[in-house]
Amino acid sequence: MLIRLGSIPTVVVSSPESAREVLKTHDLDCCSRPRLVGVGCLSYDYLDMAFVEYGDYWRELRKLYVLELYSAKRVQSFRYVREEEVGSMIESIAMSAKSRTPVNISEKFMTLTANITCRVAFGKAIQETEFKEGSFMNMIHEAVAMLESFSASDFFPRFGWIVDRFTGLHSRLEKSFRNLDVFYQKVIEEHRNATKSHEQEDMVDLLLKMVRDQTELAYGVDLLSRIQVNAWGIGLEPSLRECPKEFVPERFEDRTIDYRGNHFELLPFGAGQRGCPGMLMAMAMIELALVNVLHSFDWELPEGMTEGDVSMEEGAGLVVSNKVPL
Ligand code: HEM
Repeated sequence: MLIRLGSIPTVVVSSPESAREVLKTHDLDCCSRPRLVGVGCLSYDYLDMAFVEYGDYWRELRKLYVLELYSAKRVQSFRYVREEEVGSMIESIAMSAKSRTPVNISEKFMTLTANITCRVAFGKAIQETEFKEGSFMNMIHEAVAMLESFSASDFFPRFGWIVDRFTGLHSRLEKSFRNLDVFYQKVIEEHRNATKSHEQEDMVDLLLKMVRDQTELAYGVDLLSRIQVNAWGIGLEPSLRECPKEFVPERFEDRTIDYRGNHFELLPFGAGQRGCPGMLMAMAMIELALVNVLHSFDWELPEGMTEGDVSMEEGAGLVVSNKVPL
């Protein structure tokens, strides 16, 4: 389906067959991401691996990412971080259980992810960063809000910037960039000045090592219209699975469909060249957390609530989350 979002022609892909066309058959022609204003500002003009134009520079970054930063061996080496953090989460849930206080599970999982990511990336817990917990999380939330914000320039490239200045989006974006820039600088300085053993190395240490060996790479630009793979819409297609809105995980039990990007009816991590390179890390974290949460407690709804009161409505955003916390 071809639609026009502002002045941008956009192809919406809503079936597994056309997702296969885009993510496999024509993968190489379709794997640059749109140059959105918020993304450009927060990624030092699209230099981040997730947003850089497809080409030699991306290929080189991706190789380092997959082979060095998120290889199976590296993911395994951070197992102790996952175990400690899941352990702390289980302990805090156990304390709530003891006092029969309802648990906000959305918040628990959010904190768990933030804690693990922070320790793996920077080598220390959020509370130990110079930014106090609140302001670090505020900074991240604001950056995410900026990445998913509606910018008129993205849909009306010629004049949208005027609207963005009036709405205040432009200055909010610049402030968010400045905060992140100061934070990165501090983290880099700290890591440059630290002496660590090989086992103590975190992601920033590895990246700094790589930067030393880096050579400059050129990359090409070509772009026609945007293509949006509607993985959410594909997941809700009734011809592909019965009662798609119902939570029936057993539906996948006797089928060969997996989530790794080989089956275009289930694409949580995308597929093709730009598919998610953090999949191993994500699955290691999710499996451990979920198994422990389910194994350690008998879950029930807070007093006075029935199953029908639980809202499964999705909130908007870059990462899909429950609109009403669980
Ligand atoms: C449940 C957790 C996660 C989900 C559902 C997820 C999903 C995705 C999706 C759908 C994409 C876009 C794929 C495409 O365009 O075809 C992506 C890209 C990406 N993800 Fe993830 N992801 C997760 C966790 C992670 C983690 C833990 C990391 C790293 C630590 C990570 C790093 C990235 C990067 C760098 C890209 C951009 C790759 C590129 O453009 O070459 N993700 N992810």
